[in-house]
Amino acid sequence: MKFEIKDRDAAGRICRFTTKHGTVTTPNLMPVINPNKMLIPPQEMKKLFGTEMVITNSYIIKKDKKLREKALKNGVHKLIDFDGPIMTDSGAFQSYMYGDIKLDPIEIVEFQRDIGSDIGTILDIFGTPDQTKTEAENGMKETIKRAKQSVKVKGEMFLACTIQGSVFPDLRERCAKELSKIDADFYPIGGVVPLMEGQRYTDLVRSIIFSKRGLDPSKPVHLFGAGHPLIFPLAVALGCDFFDSSAYAKYANDGRMIFSWGTEKLEDLTELPCSCPVCSKYKVSELKKLDENQRVLEIAKHNLYVCFAEIKKIRSAIANGNLWELVERRANSNPYLLEAMNELKKSENKGWLEYFEPVSKNKAMFYTGCQTIHRPLVYRTHKRLNERYESLFDTTVVFPDGNKPYSTFYSKEIKKIMNKKEANILVRSHFGPVPIELDEMYPFAQSVFPRSVDKETEEVSRIVFNLFIKNKKICYWNGNKTLTELNESNNEDFNPDIHRISAVADMQFGKHASKTLLDGKIRIVKSKKTGKIRNVYCDEKHVLSMRANDGMFTLKIEGARLLHKSFKYPKLRVIIDKDAVPFIMDGKSVFAKFVKDCDPDLRPLDECLIVDEKDELLAVGRCILNREEMLAFQYGMAAKTRERI
Ligand code: GUN
Ligand code: ZN
Repeated sequence: MKFEIKDRDAAGRICRFTTKHGTVTTPNLMPVINPNKMLIPPQEMKKLFGTEMVITNSYIIKKDKKLREKALKNGVHKLIDFDGPIMTDSGAFQSYMYGDIKLDPIEIVEFQRDIGSDIGTILDIFGTPDQTKTEAENGMKETIKRAKQSVKVKGEMFLACTIQGSVFPDLRERCAKELSKIDADFYPIGGVVPLMEGQRYTDLVRSIIFSKRGLDPSKPVHLFGAGHPLIFPLAVALGCDFFDSSAYAKYANDGRMIFSWGTEKLEDLTELPCSCPVCSKYKVSELKKLDENQRVLEIAKHNLYVCFAEIKKIRSAIANGNLWELVERRANSNPYLLEAMNELKKSENKGWLEYFEPVSKNKAMFYTGCQTIHRPLVYRTHKRLNERYESLFDTTVVFPDGNKPYSTFYSKEIKKIMNKKEANILVRSHFGPVPIELDEMYPFAQSVFPRSVDKETEEVSRIVFNLFIKNKKICYWNGNKTLTELNESNNEDFNPDIHRISAVADMQFGKHASKTLLDGKIRIVKSKKTGKIRNVYCDEKHVLSMRANDGMFTLKIEGARLLHKSFKYPKLRVIIDKDAVPFIMDGKSVFAKFVKDCDPDLRPLDECLIVDEKDELLAVGRCILNREEMLAFQYGMAAKTRERI
């Protein structure tokens, strides 16, 4: 099974997933094909919506003599006339909906294998939200038992092992852990349909998070039965890769139209608030007047256009690094979803999400409301401020928020202060405390908040600010009055550039990194055009380059040598197998399958030291994956090599 990360944001990812019938890009949506009644044939879906993969039901095929014989003879691809990857479900859902059906858990897997399904599903026990914990646990155990038996007969077919456990987070995590140990290829999160139907999104979020926590991060994850785009962005941000939709057809049958913000009945609409080809072709009155079959077909098409448009929006949000913004905006369109966002405010969940969050993005972060301050990125920034940043002087002068960059906005005031006394300059922003030396670093400079914010943001940033200034001598800027209060002291060699590079280095590489990197005669080269810091030399060795877009450093090989010497193993290291050494020395990137170990504190897009198993420094690069991912993935890049020794 080939599955590799190409891009990422939040705990979401863009991956390439390959089966015998082709490669698809995730996140992706598999429309459900009913082999008895193909409303829109899969080939047409491919043309209309760019459908790359579909799902159909092996139980329905198996129980109908004609379909069964055709499928066994010609394969499922011929049966539904689709040449791309096909997933099949097992009948577990029918069993839950319609009570006991006669199905043997092994036979149905063998049948899926025999009809040439790309991904076949085990006959899991659907865990319902109203179960007691004991019932849920028994169902989960039976599901795991069947998964273990099914692996033995999967043959060349990829096997999907559904994670169950009802609404009990510990059962979900345990089930995912157990299933990760077996040789399965695809991991649906099951039993969630009733949660979505009941708009129980808080339970849904918990089910996803705990399933993901227990799961091998290198495996594709499918949110089983999720076909409404309302929850796609959040589910992707939590690490789901696949969705399936029967909703497009079910809803069309009752005249319901799907939108990114929810569902509307056609009969209630006075306009078609959509620009898909269907809604562009008809006026609302014309759509209402179509004969029933035609109308159902057109609504089904609209529904799929909307679903696939949302998938594309999500992928482009990942590429732009603003998936959380899309999640928050969508959450604001449904109160139940908004409520579920509270789960993400728990520090336990922030801590988990932070592990996947890239350290830099190519776009500024935009405030959307009270969820923004709880983003994993903000959580990390506050954490790194407390753990890594050191203020230099004993007095701190605090300024209110102003225009960015703050060092330019407050340049006159800062000069006056520094002429009198060396002091730390701190800006109190909605983001929290911003030491002036960090005012061009991501995300301090690259974050946009409105002038006045909601109460929750004020409260969080107040708490963080107060923690930051604890035990510091603080003085709030009040013009000349403040100046007269500051005692004069000697400050001849104050150099703001040195303070900036020291503070950024500490925030980026860890506490005291600057002491190592800048222990010598420093020469700073600035851009002639912008006046911004570009290159940093220590004793004429090029140790760092500063990037213009995020105000963060690219670590040069000379800088890497210094950090390698002073930081103890495994700090900042990606450790690679001896077989991969020649490739790295040839300038090639680090592939995940060659990673032996990695510093658990490294995050996606952190700079890293690439070393061999004896901790010899080989190269410097940038992480693509975090530690757990590097150790789990069999395909794709773990870190990009930039310079070698
Ligand atoms: N379809 C929707 N939910 C489920 C589930 O939990 N298991 C299976 N096998 N199919 C589903
Ligand atoms: Zn439309």
